[in-house]
Amino acid sequence: MKIVIVIGARPTFIDLAPIIHHLKDRSELLIYNTGQHYDREMADIFIEQLDIPAPYRNLDSKSGTHAQQTSRIMVRCEEALLEDKPDMIIVKGDTNSALGAALAAAKLKIPVIHIEAGCRSFDKTLPEEINRVIITHISTLHFPPTTNCKVNLLNEGIKDADIGIIGHPVIDSINLLVDRISNKRYNNYYYVTIHRDFNTDNKDRLRYILSSLNKIAENRDIIFPIHPRTKKRIEEHGLNELLSNIIIKPPVDYITSLSLIKHAYAIITDSGGLTKEACILGTPLITLRPNTEWIETLQGYANQLAFADGNNILDCIKNLDEHYEEAKASMQALNIFGQIGISRHIVDNILEYK
Ligand code: UD1
Repeated sequence: MKIVIVIGARPTFIDLAPIIHHLKDRSELLIYNTGQHYDREMADIFIEQLDIPAPYRNLDSKSGTHAQQTSRIMVRCEEALLEDKPDMIIVKGDTNSALGAALAAAKLKIPVIHIEAGCRSFDKTLPEEINRVIITHISTLHFPPTTNCKVNLLNEGIKDADIGIIGHPVIDSINLLVDRISNKRYNNYYYVTIHRDFNTDNKDRLRYILSSLNKIAENRDIIFPIHPRTKKRIEEHGLNELLSNIIIKPPVDYITSLSLIKHAYAIITDSGGLTKEACILGTPLITLRPNTEWIETLQGYANQLAFADGNNILDCIKNLDEHYEEAKASMQALNIFGQIGISRHIVDNILEYK
C-alpha cells in the first residue's frame, strides 16, 4: 500500500508523529511537508523531538492570505500526487495544509483519510471551522478524537461504516516524550498562548487581552511564548508596552510546552491543541474564545470560555481562584481522547479499510 501523509503546520507534526511511526514499517509511506510553518522553532524542532523521518517532498508553500496559501498547497500537492500515484492520502485537522492537500487528492479520486475528524465549534467565522467542514465532506474515512466528534459526523450524514476508532493520536505523542517532561515543581504561573486571527488582528481585542494579562501578572507569573503572527500584530498595533509585566519567550519546543502545561497553575489560550494537552495532563484552562470544539471540558471550572456571553477574563480568573481544587479535579477526571496505543489501532483501521 502506497500512502501519502501530509504534515506542514505545527499541530500536524505533533499529532501525526505516532501515526507516521506505525505506518512507516507497514506501508510505503511518503511524507509531504507543505512548509506552511517554516521557522525552526515552529517546525524543525518538533520534527526532531518527535523523531519524524525526513519528508519525501517539501512543498515549500510558506505564508500568505488563506487563498494564496491553500491554493499553493493544492497546486503543489496535485503535481506531486500525479507523479506519486498513492492509494490514499492522510490529512489531519483543520489547517490550510490539510484542506489544500485533501482538495487536490479528492479531485484526483485518491481516497482521503481524515484524522481528528468531526470537531465543530459551529462558528463559521473561524477559518479552521470552514476547513474542517469541507474536509469532512470530501473524505472517505474519518477518525473522530472524541465520542462527541463522532456524533457530529453522524449528524452531518457520514455513515457509521466510514468512521474509524475514536481517540486522538496526541495521547501517544505525549507518551513518547513523557520521560523527558520536566519534573520541576514550580507551579505558580499561567502558561499563555494566543494566535487566532480574531484575537490578534483586532486591535481593541488584543489590547483588552494584553491589559488583562498585565493585571493578572501582578499576582502570578505569566509565561507567554509568542507565535510569529501575534508578535507581528503586537508590533503593528503598537501594544508592546502592555507586555511589561509578562515573561515573553519565542515559541517553545514541544517538550518545554508539555512541561509548562503540566506544572502550570492554569493555562490561558485560544489554541485547540493546547486545550487537548491540558485536558490529558490535567491542568485547568481559560479559553480566549466564545466557543470550543472540546465541549466536554466545560464543566466544574475545568475550562471557562472568557468570551462567552457575560464572561470576561478577570472574572474567569476569580472563578478559578475560588474553585481551584474543583477545576483541577474536573480536568483530571476527564478521559475523552482514548488510551495510549490509539495510534496503532488507527493505523490498523486504515490498512484494513477497503
Ligand atoms: C495555523 C492553523 C491553526 C493552528 C496554527 C498553529 C490554519 C488556517 N491555521 O495558524 O489552525 O492552530 O497554525 O500554529 O491553517 N509565520 C511565521 N513563521 C512560521 C509560520 C508562520 O512567521 O514558521 C507567520 C506567517 O507569516 C503568517 C502567520 O505567522 O503571517 C500565520 O501563519 P499561518 O500558518 O498562516 O497560520 P497560523 O496562525 O500559524
